[in-house]
Amino acid sequence: MQELYLGIDIGTTGVKVLAVDREGNIAAESTREYPLHVPRPGWAEQNPEDWYQATCSAVNDVLNSGIIAEQIKGVGLTGQMHGSVFLDKHGKVIREAILWCDQRTADQCEQINNIVGEKKLIELVSNPALAGFTAPKILWLKDNEPENYQRVAKVLLPKDYISWRLTGGFATDVSDASGMLLLDVVNRRWSNDILAALDIPESWLAEVFESPEAVGKINATGAEDTGLIEGTTVAAGAGDNAAGAVGNGIVKSGMATVSLGTSGVIFTPSETPAVDEAGRLHTFCHAVPGQWHLMGVTMAAGGSMRWFRDTLSGEETTVAKLTGKDPYEYISDEAALVPPGCEGLVFLPYLSGERTPHADPYARGVFVGMNLKHNKGHLGRAVMEGVAFSQKDTLEIMAQLGIKLDDLRITGGGARSPVWRQIMADVFGLNLNVMQNSNGPAYGAAVLGSVAASAYSSIDEAVKVIANQQMEKVTPQQKNIELYNKMYGIYVDVYPPLKSIFKRLNNI
Ligand code: XUL
Repeated sequence: MQELYLGIDIGTTGVKVLAVDREGNIAAESTREYPLHVPRPGWAEQNPEDWYQATCSAVNDVLNSGIIAEQIKGVGLTGQMHGSVFLDKHGKVIREAILWCDQRTADQCEQINNIVGEKKLIELVSNPALAGFTAPKILWLKDNEPENYQRVAKVLLPKDYISWRLTGGFATDVSDASGMLLLDVVNRRWSNDILAALDIPESWLAEVFESPEAVGKINATGAEDTGLIEGTTVAAGAGDNAAGAVGNGIVKSGMATVSLGTSGVIFTPSETPAVDEAGRLHTFCHAVPGQWHLMGVTMAAGGSMRWFRDTLSGEETTVAKLTGKDPYEYISDEAALVPPGCEGLVFLPYLSGERTPHADPYARGVFVGMNLKHNKGHLGRAVMEGVAFSQKDTLEIMAQLGIKLDDLRITGGGARSPVWRQIMADVFGLNLNVMQNSNGPAYGAAVLGSVAASAYSSIDEAVKVIANQQMEKVTPQQKNIELYNKMYGIYVDVYPPLKSIFKRLNNI
């Protein structure tokens, strides 16, 4: 009987479950979607029960596709980071989870800066107060929903809520916990100083583990709900970016993932907890024990493209339904007809505010430079280029910090577009490797499950086997590099004069 490992990714649009064998081949997979609620502009919430039901259905799908539950020897969890699940003392969810892309906590970030001091905060938790992180959400609850705050007994991250439902234990891992703004990232444990300063009891938080550690076993209810065998080992797991990095073999400095998911992330491991003193990059623990990582986040990368599809690409979507193709293929084809630089059109992809480099929850999306020549193809291409410029911002900061990257691997849904991949290589002026089987965070989570179940002695050993695959190279075109350098110069000048306007628009 072939042994398999299950990776479960609680994403923003849905859950993905993969069953992977010891050599890294995928034996079965399923995706189930759930809704995202936007009660007000800039807010984003989900119902944790929806995650759980979708997870159970997706695991059921996998177990109904020719494999049997006894084959699954280990489970690894991953998911969207920073989201807050508030539980009362009976384990009841108090309110909908507030997600990573929710921007409501600007006032609470200011409060944290006033209480702790900006410099001290970076010293304690290696990161600045950013609107999407978890600690400001806890303070938001205190300020705005005191009756809910009174009931809080636990605050869990999305994947850790699912882990609790499946095992009955409260566990988290160092990579995901880093995004709560409550972890002493250097020492990989909760920061007593910050907990005391913000008046958050440690008993509200899960126990911290390294990502590949086994934290528990599937319990009787978990087994009944999912079809898994009671007693199956569950790993601590990792935040989606760290798990994605493991799945793509990004386990040492010099390597990086360029990921085009809902958010766009450049992620590079570090052997030391190096911090960007200016707080523009995040410094989090890596899923690999003894390593950290630096990353820059574009809030709406694939998210900008999805907005473009949903609001401006009705015809492409209708035709795609008829032909059975993906609407993004048509959007890419139209973008390919437009010359690089979009004949002088620039897009700022700040549709969900922005983290890197501006840390501005009020930032908004903008097209600059439209004239009568521009058509929909130009707008679509400008969205792709704008996201690429935004990720170049992260690469520029990494270069300023002396980080040298020699193996950039592009991954995520957006990387399926050859046009977008070429734009990314041209804007960066760097070679990009395209993984043939880029399976994202769920794949990395399965690897963590396999290490927890002792199929491998370490992540390194596992990665040597599973991430050892053929890669296609995308090489930048010299004439485009020069043009894009000019365009990037314009791109970086667009935001500063608009900053105060964005804030005023927010007050409307
Ligand atoms: C990372 C972040 C996003 C989410 C997306 O800091 O907020 O990448 O994890 O799922």
